[in-house]
Amino acid sequence: MNEQKIKELISYALNMRAFSYTPYSHFNVGAALLAADGNVFTGCNIENASYTPTICAERTAFSKAVSEGVRDFKAIAIVGGPKDSESLDYCFPCGVCRQVMSEFCKDDFMVIIAKSVDEYKTFYLPEILPERFGPKDLLC
Ligand code: THU
Repeated sequence: MNEQKIKELISYALNMRAFSYTPYSHFNVGAALLAADGNVFTGCNIENASYTPTICAERTAFSKAVSEGVRDFKAIAIVGGPKDSESLDYCFPCGVCRQVMSEFCKDDFMVIIAKSVDEYKTFYLPEILPERFGPKDLLC
């Protein structure tokens, strides 16, 4: 993945934080999921007064893509932090989101964690979810 594409994805993720619905945590997360065909599916976190129905930005993006028939992915950019903070720290995906990535993504799936378009770290899925349980364990 070239640097320009990474920066573009981060930029989409950063913009998505404006749409986060976070009346409880005030912690806004944006995600941008790059499909193999080049399309980008964005997501933000959406909280709920009953807490459990809260959906993370990453899973919002996956839900949008999969519900449109897209299941082949290359990378995801994730940006998160307190709603009004001026500078962001790295926001790593929660365990549930890593498991959802594992359902649809292979070992070459890139996870981009960013503070800004210029400050980011990249990982491949096995680095952040080693020895995972997944479709291979159930499907013949
Ligand atoms: N959150 C995400 O959107 N993605 C993550 O990977 C970590 C957590 C959201 C969920 C909740 O709305 C807020 O951040 C605080 O946990």
